[in-house]
Amino acid sequence: MEEFQSKLKQTEFRQSGHVSARCPSNIALVKYWGKRGKQIPMNPSLSFTLTNSYTQTELKFRPKEQDGYRVTVYLDGMLKEGFAQRIHTFFERIEAYVPFLQDFEFEVYTHNTFPHSSGIASSASGMGALALCLVQMEENMGAGFTEDEKLRKASFLARLGSGSACRSVYHGITVWGETDSVKGSSDYYAIPYPYEIHRDFQRFQDTILLIDEGQKEVSSSAGHKLMEEHPYAKQRFFSANENLGKLIPILKEGNLPEFGKLVEHEALSLHAMMMTSDPAYLLMLPNTLNVIRKVWEFRESMSANLFFTLDAGANVHLLYPEKEMETCMNFIKEELLSYCISKKFIEDFSF
Ligand code: DP6
Repeated sequence: MEEFQSKLKQTEFRQSGHVSARCPSNIALVKYWGKRGKQIPMNPSLSFTLTNSYTQTELKFRPKEQDGYRVTVYLDGMLKEGFAQRIHTFFERIEAYVPFLQDFEFEVYTHNTFPHSSGIASSASGMGALALCLVQMEENMGAGFTEDEKLRKASFLARLGSGSACRSVYHGITVWGETDSVKGSSDYYAIPYPYEIHRDFQRFQDTILLIDEGQKEVSSSAGHKLMEEHPYAKQRFFSANENLGKLIPILKEGNLPEFGKLVEHEALSLHAMMMTSDPAYLLMLPNTLNVIRKVWEFRESMSANLFFTLDAGANVHLLYPEKEMETCMNFIKEELLSYCISKKFIEDFSF
């Protein structure tokens, strides 16, 4: 991709220094599940970028002479040897666009505002923050990016670290994956949602119930891979694309019931793919289902606009408009926290 080749002319920049960046996590409403080639999604996805759940990263660099990558990663000050391998793979994928990776020795100091054991994926915010740091470094070396170019390149690079990370670079609603429904959409980077959004979808709330704190049994990467031979894959990709198109008038008109129907369908379809893959697997736990049932009962009896979505794990994201916060939070605290590990939850929102 020509557009993302480094803008640096031959540079003699060989100084030590540091850059830092913050990047939030995101929750997909239309899910990315299945990819090909170099992180190309099989269907478009759309997400809310969160606010309180973010990664803060500082990237320190020092010039070096030897070939190869030198990266050490510290999470909350603790050396994490396992993370360095993932960053090596990331560096290999992006080297054509970031030509100075072998000229420096890097130390990555990273902190997540959400607990590592919470089951909230840190790959989106973590890769997003690292990509933003690298683009900032290139800028400091004289690239001369506009603000838009900087974010677009960060999104492009973040995608090569973790697909969903490319959506986290922008706040609000973002879209990744080429689709006829969204002008300017691309398989290579995310874009800010370009259409009208009803005020009910501004500052949309996401209360995350922590149902499970353990490591996932099947990683997202393995899950994406299982879509390659999946008997229902074609229909799933088609229906995600269709759902994204259907969301556009829903978001414009503030049609909360239709929004809930579509978003819950997406979440259950994602897990249906896991249950019908070969080998089959389940990431929902009994308490995930208990919460879903309670949410449906509550909605029936209170006609409240409280909906759920799931990512690739057991935790439940509860979505509702800010104007219904009091009713929804009372219900969540009284009826749902007993299903969480040590009553733990995270209050977040998209803006
Ligand atoms: C279920 O972005 O974590 O959260 O590209 O292999 O890093 P990789 O996968 P990842 O997959 C996220 C899947 C999802 C849905 C979504 O966020 O769209």
